[in-house]
Amino acid sequence: MRNLIWISGASSGIGAALAVSTPYADARVIDLSRRGGVVEHFAADLADPADWVRVEEHFAAELAGFDGERVIFVHNAGTVVPIGPAAKVDAEAYAKAVLLNSAAPQVLGRAFLRATAGLECERQLVLLSSGAATKAYPGWSAYNAGKAAVEHWVRSVGLEEAALDQESADAVTGAAPGVAAGGVRGCRVIAVAPGVVDTAMQAEIRAVDEQDFPAVERFRELKRSGGLITPEQAAAGLWAVIEAKYPTGSILDLRDLPS
Ligand SMILES: NC(=O)c1ccc[n+]([C@@H]2O[C@H](COP(=O)([O-])OP(=O)(O)OC[C@H]3O[C@@H](n4cnc5c(N)ncnc54)[C@H](OP(=O)(O)O)[C@@H]3O)[C@@H](O)[C@H]2O)c1
Repeated sequence: MRNLIWISGASSGIGAALAVSTPYADARVIDLSRRGGVVEHFAADLADPADWVRVEEHFAAELAGFDGERVIFVHNAGTVVPIGPAAKVDAEAYAKAVLLNSAAPQVLGRAFLRATAGLECERQLVLLSSGAATKAYPGWSAYNAGKAAVEHWVRSVGLEEAALDQESADAVTGAAPGVAAGGVRGCRVIAVAPGVVDTAMQAEIRAVDEQDFPAVERFRELKRSGGLITPEQAAAGLWAVIEAKYPTGSILDLRDLPS
């Protein structure tokens, strides 16, 4: 197999659409989620730190001896619930949302970088972001903060990985003796916001009370007026971005890109 692809949250929505539409002919796609159901499944609750360790071990086991062209991890799993003022929402649900939205992208992203560091093939790490990374909504504090964390993590790790690319280039030109030519190459790390997509997450948003989420009517109106894209359209946009090889550290929004 030439392409090994992990997608977290591929049991539903954007992740499921991504999993069945990979542009690569010879690809093994593995879903990291609780439910599974669409492609090969590694069952994991990504809000549970014990499962982060299991995922890191799984990465290492599956990559042992891999000599294909490309490894990709699309970290797509996320949750918008619980929706409501931070002072009001359930403590346990809130803690889980913080672990899933803020911590899991960083911890699993690190695990993927570590597990793939020795490979010579193309490596891509793609994290799902949202307009909510920069626009604050009352009722979405754990979601807003999680997506902001994703984007800043990508900026920071992007600089680290770009430095590895530079070391590799210097080794080729002889500018950095001691670094093996071609032996060091950064992983392409990017964050992508898909736009407003017609998934279970959007249904959860529309179902809440205005007191818990004052912007709810805007999302109901978007649905009524046909303003949402389909998961398939979002997946096509994401694969196009992955294939276009934007510079590592890029923060992208599908709505700003040519379709
Ligand atoms: N829909 C939009 O308008 C929109 C806009 C901007 C950004 N996004 C982002 O796009 C990504 C996908 O969203 P979606 O709209 O496709 O949502 P969705 O249909 O609700 O799917 C969410 C996925 O995340 C997984 N997930 C949730 N909690 C998990 C956990 N504890 N452990 C493992 N997996 C978990 C779910 O799998 P299991 O339940 O099987 O675990 C499911 O496959 C999210 O990161 C979201 O923030 C969506």
